[in-house]
Amino acid sequence: MADRIVFGSDHAGLSLRAEAVRVATAAGFEVEDLGPFSGDSVDYPDFAARVGQAVAEGRARLGILVCGTGIGMSIAANKVKGVRAAHCTTEFEARMARAHNDANVLCMGERVIGLGLGGAVTAAFLAQTFEGGRHQRRLDKIAALDR
Ligand code: RB5
Repeated sequence: MADRIVFGSDHAGLSLRAEAVRVATAAGFEVEDLGPFSGDSVDYPDFAARVGQAVAEGRARLGILVCGTGIGMSIAANKVKGVRAAHCTTEFEARMARAHNDANVLCMGERVIGLGLGGAVTAAFLAQTFEGGRHQRRLDKIAALDR
């Protein structure tokens, strides 16, 4: 799979999405931005579905979603089978989401953490790898809930 990261947001997450794209590009990832590309009001589940399906179908290794709080995006993305979306507000949460939960989608709230912290959370998420071991057994149990 290409080391591609897909991005999406709603109208409340445009600026942090752009910052996350900038951070990922600077870190050397292949970036695919799935929009939206205007400031018009949109519905976050539409973009959670696009990003979640790209990750679940293997068209991208990771996804990043931004809305006002990060809550709606995480609720919606976790409905896509195979997605493990983590709503993170700190760098520690972002590292743990990758290390212990092998989260494949990061959700953030622009109105909660803003661009500076949001960029740092993005960088932490992208830099961390899954630790495997005992955590894999727990992920297998999560996957069983999908069936
Ligand atoms: C949009 O106003 C807002 O509801 C949305 O961005 C998000 O915060 C929902 O969870």
